[in-house]
Amino acid sequence: MVSTGPLSMLPPLLLCISLLLAFCSAEDPFVFYDFEVSYITASPLGVEQQVIAINGKFPGPTMNVTTNNNVVVNVRNKLDEDLLMHWSGIQMRKNSWQDGVLGTNCPIPSKWNWTYQFQVKDQIGSFFYFPSLHFQRAAGGFGGITVNNREIIPIPFDTPYGDITIMIGDWYTRNHTALRKTLDDGKSLGMPDGVLINGKGPYRYNDSLVPDGIDYETITVHPGKTYRIRVSNVGISTSLNFRIQSHNLLLAETEGSYTVQQNYTSLDIHVGQTYSFLLTTDQNASSDYYIVASARFVNETTWQRVTGVAILKYTNSKGKAHGHLPDPPQDQYDKTYSMNQARSIRWNVTASGARPNPQGSFRYGSINVTELYVIRNKPPMKIDGKQRTSINGISFSNPKTPIRLADWFKVKGVYKLDFPDKPLTGAPKIETSVINGSFRGFMEIILQNNDTKVHTYHLSGYAFFVVGMDYGEWTENSRGTYNKWDGIARTTAQVYPGAWTAILISLDNVGIWNLRTENLDAWYLGQETYLRVVNPEVTNKTELPIPDNALFCGALQKMQKPQEISSGTLLGNAPKLIAAVVAVAISALISLF
Ligand SMILES: *[C@@H]1O[C@H](CO)[C@@H](O)[C@H](O)[C@H]1NC(C)=O
Ligand SMILES: *[C@@H]1O[C@H](CO)[C@@H](O)[C@H](O)[C@H]1NC(C)=O
Ligand SMILES: *[C@@H]1O[C@H](CO)[C@@H](O)[C@H](O)[C@H]1NC(C)=O
Ligand SMILES: *[C@@H]1O[C@H](CO)[C@@H](O)[C@H](O)[C@H]1NC(C)=O
Ligand SMILES: *[C@@H]1O[C@H](CO)[C@@H](O)[C@H](O)[C@H]1NC(C)=O
Ligand SMILES: *[C@@H]1O[C@H](CO)[C@@H](O)[C@H](O)[C@H]1NC(C)=O
Ligand SMILES: *[C@@H]1O[C@H](CO)[C@@H](O)[C@H](O)[C@H]1NC(C)=O
Ligand SMILES: *[C@@H]1O[C@H](CO)[C@@H](O)[C@H](O)[C@H]1NC(C)=O
Ligand SMILES: *[C@@H]1O[C@H](CO)[C@@H](O)[C@H](O)[C@H]1NC(C)=O
Ligand SMILES: *[C@@H]1O[C@H](CO)[C@@H](O)[C@H](O)[C@H]1NC(C)=O
Ligand SMILES: *[C@@H]1O[C@H](CO)[C@@H](O)[C@H](O)[C@H]1NC(C)=O
Ligand SMILES: *[C@@H]1O[C@H](CO)[C@@H](O)[C@H](O)[C@H]1NC(C)=O
Repeated sequence: MVSTGPLSMLPPLLLCISLLLAFCSAEDPFVFYDFEVSYITASPLGVEQQVIAINGKFPGPTMNVTTNNNVVVNVRNKLDEDLLMHWSGIQMRKNSWQDGVLGTNCPIPSKWNWTYQFQVKDQIGSFFYFPSLHFQRAAGGFGGITVNNREIIPIPFDTPYGDITIMIGDWYTRNHTALRKTLDDGKSLGMPDGVLINGKGPYRYNDSLVPDGIDYETITVHPGKTYRIRVSNVGISTSLNFRIQSHNLLLAETEGSYTVQQNYTSLDIHVGQTYSFLLTTDQNASSDYYIVASARFVNETTWQRVTGVAILKYTNSKGKAHGHLPDPPQDQYDKTYSMNQARSIRWNVTASGARPNPQGSFRYGSINVTELYVIRNKPPMKIDGKQRTSINGISFSNPKTPIRLADWFKVKGVYKLDFPDKPLTGAPKIETSVINGSFRGFMEIILQNNDTKVHTYHLSGYAFFVVGMDYGEWTENSRGTYNKWDGIARTTAQVYPGAWTAILISLDNVGIWNLRTENLDAWYLGQETYLRVVNPEVTNKTELPIPDNALFCGALQKMQKPQEISSGTLLGNAPKLIAAVVAVAISALISLF
């Protein structure tokens, strides 16, 4: 397990005294991280390759923060290409400036650093961060984000004995530049070479399938305890089934909402999704136990070799794990099994989330929808001579000037606010076409998957309600099947091939928000857009102003000052650290005016 605490958490009092200002809220402390993003060499599947590490670690450290913390992350780009770090699932209230995608931020050039600052406002739960550009996530650069409840807000279960973060994902032994080139050449990536668990290859559960000498993950636990395990699928495009031999997984939370607690022997985790489970170590430790992440909806015979296997080791374990892996769901002839499992994940409407009121006190089922978008993807196809993907006939082209910056500086012609509310019938186009959302509206989005594999859709800036999914074409009558009471509020939703998923969004967060498939290859080829939410009233209350360290590019390039390249580090130099802290705090205060 890779997990480190914040670089430092200064007592808020110190900040307040040092600034002699009344604006410091003792409830909203600052938490600081220093992320050095660089290449390292690793051979998770026995083949040496270049991977992306954070502070020398692959996966990167888990960020461990608490509701309402102000999080400051100095990201230093030691890669040989541009970088943006995306904090997937962090809602960035009033602050799309920090979302770390091309629609909101200019890339951090190679050898530069940029300091993100955002508040994890009114939020709890399990998420992850990753580099959003150039297919870099296929090489690593990801890590968990845990947002804890404030102490005064109870969690709906006993405090677990331990907290464990697990990153699972499909993996290629080709590096990310090679994978990118394959896509640029109009080819498909083909079958992944394996599934990693916390950046490591499989335990040798079968001598003929797994070569000798692979380093695997071992998670050590004490008997008779309950652990919270947070599992994210950070992979490229493979849905994974997660299970632990002889153990139940009691589902407790997903992407910021506490669920009705139910036991699962295994759960499907699609690309970009995160779940937390309570794991009770109630077995007799006659041996170690397998932790399995296996490829889903593929021909098991040919996909055998891509199974991810780690080890759950009790401190009193009497021997090694052996024998067959626990069975995956036997549902080859039942395409509704996985969907029914997804439907069974419901919100615990009586639990408190980030605030003392029960989660379900927001009655989404009785709010009138103000705008409807039916969004349909297509499998990859040739558009303007290039292999591309599309939604509603638009293959998104990222603008040179980020949309949020273009709006702020009134740069014209960067994008069109004309994203169609239903699939276009003509030939698909490559365009920068954005959804026009109305501030304080209530949007219904139907995601219709015309591709042959599962897609997970993500929307930045919001948690949305997942109210329905089914096979076939969505029609207005489909609304009759919606869950109007305890549909889960989360930041991703999977859509099965040939099926639809309906989500509802309360458009209360001003900004420019990325809507995309999490499947990395389809995203790279254009399956995304942005949702633009603007408050027509001119006020500083609903959106923070541009950060004073904003980077400039595209039409605004001439505003960018060169950056002094310093090799200095925040670590190990206390006076410098305090100075940096004060500087950040001052800039935060200035931004309040
Ligand atoms: C995360 O932070 C919380 C609150 O500060 C602390 O209680 C907990 O031990 C930390 N967890 C880990 C895994 O570091
Ligand atoms: C870059 O990092 C240094 C410390 O390593 C820090 O002092 C500086 O403010 C950072 N620059 C930006 C633009 O974030
Ligand atoms: C829902 O949350 C409440 C309040 O914390 C808790 O008492 C209850 O056990 C939870 N119910 C389920 C089914 O998880
Ligand atoms: C990435 O892969 C390509 C193609 O195999 C290879 O030419 C290149 O050297 C690799 N880059 C690194 C830095 O490993
Ligand atoms: C190992 O895998 C091979 C190939 O799939 C299979 O034939 C064999 O039965 C497996 N051995 C064990 C011990 O599971
Ligand atoms: C879940 O399974 C455990 C045994 O592993 C059992 O003790 C517990 O009561 C079950 N909980 C629910 C909500 O079914
Ligand atoms: C431990 O449990 C396994 C499976 O439940 C059982 O086969 C085995 O006999 C048990 N061993 C001991 C020492 O109780
Ligand atoms: C799976 O692949 C194997 C080997 O290619 C093939 O023989 C088998 O028919 C396939 N099974 C299904 C259900 O398609
Ligand atoms: C929703 O729409 C219905 C029918 O148009 C209307 O009667 C009702 O008052 C509306 N409810 C709200 C909360 O606006
Ligand atoms: C965007 O929507 C608003 C209403 O929310 C409307 O006033 C405006 O004209 C729309 N803009 C475009 C370009 O359609
Ligand atoms: C995709 O759309 C076409 C045309 O509407 C339809 O014939 C086909 O069944 C759809 N495929 C899936 C997987 O939805
Ligand atoms: C918003 O803040 C800016 C300074 O950041 C100030 O110039 C402007 O007048 C403020 N606008 C309103 C409507 O308060």
